[in-house]
Amino acid sequence: MKKKKILILCGGISKERVISLETGKEVARELKNNNYKVVTCEPDNNLLKHINSHKPDVIFNALHGQFGEDGYIQTVLETQKIPYTHSGVISSSIAMDKEISKIIFIKNKILTPKYIKFTYEKNERNIIKKIETKLKFPVVIKPINEGSSVHVYICNKKNILKNLKRLNFYKEILIEEFIPGREIQVAIMGEKKLGTIELKPKRKFYDYEAKYNPKAKTQHIIPVDLNKKDLKKITDIGLKAHKVIGCRGVTRSDFKFYNGKFYLLEINTQPGMTKLSLVPEIANYAGINFIRLIEWILKDASINR
Ligand SMILES: Nc1ncnc2c1ncn2[C@@H]1O[C@H](COP(=O)(O)OP(=O)(O)O)[C@@H](O)[C@H]1O
Ligand SMILES: [Mg+2]
Repeated sequence: MKKKKILILCGGISKERVISLETGKEVARELKNNNYKVVTCEPDNNLLKHINSHKPDVIFNALHGQFGEDGYIQTVLETQKIPYTHSGVISSSIAMDKEISKIIFIKNKILTPKYIKFTYEKNERNIIKKIETKLKFPVVIKPINEGSSVHVYICNKKNILKNLKRLNFYKEILIEEFIPGREIQVAIMGEKKLGTIELKPKRKFYDYEAKYNPKAKTQHIIPVDLNKKDLKKITDIGLKAHKVIGCRGVTRSDFKFYNGKFYLLEINTQPGMTKLSLVPEIANYAGINFIRLIEWILKDASINR
């Protein structure tokens, strides 16, 4: 069978640019090693020119974060009538918005940490009082549409005001109840459960360093030590979240497990795809090596568009 021509989109303008470049580089290397024709490009003003001159069979979207994972680039790609990988316009934009996805989770009886939305413009006084009407300290503050734990802070009553100031270039953010306990993630591949992984950070939580700096020595645990019933429970929720948001291809859902309950933090529609990323690690354990995972993602894009 003739090998397809693949255009890999990576880099971009989000705070996860570096990770995206890494994902793009590794996917490109793996495809080239397997005799695919590959070009890599940035989602800049020359993108359509590149698409027109290379005429790829499939576009592999290796972007993360804003403009890559939030429906914007997907809208541009829709106009090109070329299959592109991962979720489409609407599901990408919903999944990237942590508040809208939480509203959908709650509607579908998926447990997610309690939260309030904090709007900077309102210059809210008595914010501590307001938080305490719905949540208990400590709380977690986070941007509504970032990833990689960028600007996520765990706060107590003493440091919340200082930490809120750190994020004041956002219009609004989420303040969530802090859920202690284990950190477990679920990968979904199409309509199937791919598997789970547990992360044990040595740091205070699974922050940017814990995610990407090997020196932070976060432990990756596969298989996850859960009984059959709980394993079914968490993977059922991962699959349900994937479906209710309307995702395609591969997704990864982030959970906290505390007191016998699984709390869904978010669903990622463009999970990291370096060889050392979590989805490839989960896939590998399921007997799907890196090239087979990439090929499945490409094929899924072609079938579904
Ligand atoms: N409500 C919470 N309770 C406890 N830890 C949290 C909570 N929200 C986020 N975290 C920690 O911060 C990390 C990043 O949060 P997440 O909501 O997944 O955003 P991101 O898109 O940045 O990955 C999580 O993996 C977890 O370690
Ligand atoms: Mg996350």
